[in-house]
Amino acid sequence: MKPLVGIIMGSSSDWETMQHCAQTLEQLGVAIEKRVISAHRTPQLAFEWCSSAEARGLKVVIAAAGGAAHLAGVAAALTPLPVLGVPMESAALKGLDSLLSMVQMPGGIPVATFAIGKPGAINAALFAAAILALNDPKAKQAVDNFRAAQSKKVAETKLP
Ligand code: RP5
Repeated sequence: MKPLVGIIMGSSSDWETMQHCAQTLEQLGVAIEKRVISAHRTPQLAFEWCSSAEARGLKVVIAAAGGAAHLAGVAAALTPLPVLGVPMESAALKGLDSLLSMVQMPGGIPVATFAIGKPGAINAALFAAAILALNDPKAKQAVDNFRAAQSKKVAETKLP
């Protein structure tokens, strides 16, 4: 299956969080491409990967980074695809630095920014699937099933 969603992250240390993003998309049957790409440690690779993303058939890019967290903004500058940013929980400032770096994009180059850490990783996956679902009945069915199963699970929860 040709990947439709590209997940990039600034460091392998982001994988512990971003595995939840990848797992959620896999659970929904969405083909993904995942890779460590750093805006500052591998700027040339970031340029090549992001500027060729649309031509390679990707429909959405999810970018995770922590600290100065400029990967999502750099990606959004280099591709017309929707870029969903996931701020990583940093050790020093608990991810507030990552969140503010991502969410405060100047007007003109949007980054749709999600919650810090695991909830953001999961929601970025669900949001990417919802974008695909606009034109893809299989993705729509998968998103609808996920939501129905989640509602059923919550409704059936028994407290001790
Ligand atoms: C960012 O710096 C990465 O996205 C990561 O969240 C953070 C720390 O990276 P490492 O020093 O753990 O590689 O570029």
